[in-house]
Amino acid sequence: MTARDFVWGVSTAAYQIEGAVAEDGRGPSIWDTRCRTKGGVSDGSSGDVACDHYHRWREDVALLRAIGVGAYRFSVGWPRVLPRGRGAANEAGLAFYDRLIDALLEAGIEPWLTLYHWDLPQALDDLGGWTSRDCAGWFADYAALVAGRYGDRVKRFITFNEFSVFTLFGYAIPWAAPGVTDRAAHLKAVHHVNLAHGAAVDVVRALVPGASIGAIHNRQIVIPEGDLEENREPAALLDEHWNLVFPDPQILGFYPPRTAAAIEPYVKAGDMARIRRPVDWFGLNHYGPIFAKADPNFVWGYGWGSPPEGSPDHGFGWPIFPEAFRDELTLIARRYRLPIVVTENGCNTDDAPDANGEVHDPRRILYLKLYVQAMRDAMAAGADVRGYFLWSLLDCFEWGNGYGPKFGIVHVDRETQKRTLKDSARWYAEMIRTARKDP
Ligand code: FCB
Repeated sequence: MTARDFVWGVSTAAYQIEGAVAEDGRGPSIWDTRCRTKGGVSDGSSGDVACDHYHRWREDVALLRAIGVGAYRFSVGWPRVLPRGRGAANEAGLAFYDRLIDALLEAGIEPWLTLYHWDLPQALDDLGGWTSRDCAGWFADYAALVAGRYGDRVKRFITFNEFSVFTLFGYAIPWAAPGVTDRAAHLKAVHHVNLAHGAAVDVVRALVPGASIGAIHNRQIVIPEGDLEENREPAALLDEHWNLVFPDPQILGFYPPRTAAAIEPYVKAGDMARIRRPVDWFGLNHYGPIFAKADPNFVWGYGWGSPPEGSPDHGFGWPIFPEAFRDELTLIARRYRLPIVVTENGCNTDDAPDANGEVHDPRRILYLKLYVQAMRDAMAAGADVRGYFLWSLLDCFEWGNGYGPKFGIVHVDRETQKRTLKDSARWYAEMIRTARKDP
């Protein structure tokens, strides 16, 4: 691979930017419900309007073109195209992504389509959602609809974004929709999502000639808080739930040891083969390491710990630690032996336009420089990394944290929806231009 083939992109997700939640026939998702639940989102906000991307997509494609990215990762909102999750499709919703995809291609930007970035249709959650084995089949049918509709123009497909975040925080630790806290529900969700992934890989492969399929794993080293003995076993269990219970069965064909016995009651004959379907690359989302501690307040007996005092961080305790990123890439390359695409990496900084209307975000630029360098170091050490997608294009709805965190390289004024390129967007544009010139 030459530097010219390396993909530089940005990522977004439907619920975080689109808004228009009740428009053109979209159905509700578990995140609409979560946002209406007291305490569901820290600032009481929702994705009702978000970045109004549903109406401003032309402007957003123009931004992508101005920055010069080669690829754009977005997600299809399942409830926008299938308002009840299954059954009748919503033509207006499908047509929205047609327009977006066509505009991207016209701008010379490759669309990377994520099937699931957490917005499960509420109607399916009412039937048990991911705790129901049937959900794997519902997801495969949805994947067939999307692949059949867009597969003539889209070749890059991602089954799921960050399996472990939405299963752990949705079914064990109540930090995300649907907010269940139960060990059995968590294990069932893990297994059924794995089955859904395998089924979707087959469906997309069958329907889209030349498809390049991946899944996105959020892998981060889990460090026992304070290096204390009592935090070691909790950290090891969290490591399984966070880092291993999806890529191991999907790519290697087994569950890690602590989980294997616990999940057994939900595994039927033939399941492991259904889950382990060949994928083309490993998607990695990475921000920083995790610190774990024993915590009886949560169902698995572990909770989130704190980094050592004085560690640099970019908000809500997310430490800046580029070496961990380099090591993660190296470890993935060795363990899974697949090409890697970094599908999310980025930084939350609190930046706003100054008196001249400019947004200076030097801390983000510093973070990005450190992390891109760490990726290059991993590549120099042999990791086969094929692309890097920055999170995110726009300041957007950050799930349970509402609009507080700002990960965009484009500032979005919440009142006016005005978009302003931050210094980091210009820095990224320049970096991409320079990188493309390298032989
Ligand atoms: C990841 C999510 C993404 C965004 C970033 C900050 O966990 O995939 O949607 O919220 O974190």
